[in-house]
Amino acid sequence: MSISQPHELCSVPKGVLQIPEEGFSRQEGGDAFTRNSLTLPDANSRNAGTSQMRFSLVIPTYNESKNIKELVQQLSQHLDGAIPGAYELIVVDDDSPDRTWEVAVALMREYPQLRVMRRVEERGLATAVIRGWQAARGEVLGVIDGDLQHPPELLLQLWGEIQRGADLAVASRHVEGGGVSEWSIIRRFLSRGAQLLGLIILPGAVGRVSDPMSGYFLVRRRCIAKGRLSPVGYKILIEVLARGELAWIGEVGYVFQERPAGESKVTWKQYVDYILHLLRLRLTTLPINRLFQFGAVGLTGVFVDMAVLYLLSDPSTLGWGLTRSKIVAAELAIINNFLWNDIWTFGDISRRQPGQRRRIKRLLKFNIICLAGLVLNVLLLNALYNFVIYNKYVANLIAIAALAIWNFWIALKLSWRVTDLEE
Ligand code: GDD
Ligand code: MN
Repeated sequence: MSISQPHELCSVPKGVLQIPEEGFSRQEGGDAFTRNSLTLPDANSRNAGTSQMRFSLVIPTYNESKNIKELVQQLSQHLDGAIPGAYELIVVDDDSPDRTWEVAVALMREYPQLRVMRRVEERGLATAVIRGWQAARGEVLGVIDGDLQHPPELLLQLWGEIQRGADLAVASRHVEGGGVSEWSIIRRFLSRGAQLLGLIILPGAVGRVSDPMSGYFLVRRRCIAKGRLSPVGYKILIEVLARGELAWIGEVGYVFQERPAGESKVTWKQYVDYILHLLRLRLTTLPINRLFQFGAVGLTGVFVDMAVLYLLSDPSTLGWGLTRSKIVAAELAIINNFLWNDIWTFGDISRRQPGQRRRIKRLLKFNIICLAGLVLNVLLLNALYNFVIYNKYVANLIAIAALAIWNFWIALKLSWRVTDLEE
């Protein structure tokens, strides 16, 4: 164990981008840090005065050699005042041509809480942040840009939000006290346009905060430690919002400053990456299993619908009129689908909402939703049968299929909404 060389670089974590559930903690009486059975010799075990590291702030850098000293100085000043010895700053540099990592390593003598990681094989802001979080020891993980465009003094307010109980505390340009200093109309338009696109593709995640594009936030380790993360490009917050288990989110307004030196690395590529990231999250967070279950239940509903339509409307049976038969058939199919979905597709949710009263409430909600679908279904069936396909059973099948996705989404968002859960 080479403790004699305190100013070494951190080793870069390898493999999947998954945050460990536990940070490193100091081994009793030893110098090394342990997590589970993994012991970290050398620079990774640098200087944690207290046994429990509370906060790890990652600073992703690429060509920030002119900004990093001032930033580390300001951050240390604020954090030494609030949580002395219980925080660490982790610079994650992607082998910057201006050797930002070297400038940062030289600062380690003066700033004992500073650790530096130099990535050579990998590149990209979001993955840099996650690699930093993987090597972090704090229970609260944070990220701030390395160019002083995010005001360091705001950190204490964000930390305050976490202390008050927030799982995620985001620095926002779009709440009271927020804004951007000298952004061009184009950049403002692109930023808001990106946000709008996010709201369309991933409303459940992007819609939870006022500034989903923010690169400045703190999050509790346990809220993002379960699953694998796989961001693309810049937007680490979108990844956290989509995959994290976040009950309470706090926001603090800030004004995005002009950088004192260097230039932004944002190019059109970041915008393409962002769209790819949204689509990847859309696909990977789609409740595929539930969709299949809902589809299978839907198929039993088609069978009930068709069988009852036949039993009521076929000349060889009761020979009722089409619309009257269809309404009875569809209603029985709705009740069939509800029961199977309540027991199976959304069983995990309905079991946490026990009692007949709640079940009837869910049935009524589901029925109202399906009724809207039913009206559309009957209109579509009649339109198809009278103008397009002169076989009522084929027309009926097409009408049902068209409504299936609509019903699933509405059912997921309304009938089995996980709001009135029994804690
Ligand atoms: N390690 C690493 N690797 N760091 C990088 C990389 C990279 O490939 N690219 C950029 N960085 C670092 C920069 O050095 C800087 O510290 C930080 O990431 C942000 O990069 P900028 O290029 O300055 O981004 P920006 O100022 O245009 O946009 C920032 O603010 C926006 C508004 O909050 C970013 O944080 C955006 O994500 C954010 O939307
Ligand atoms: Mn910047």
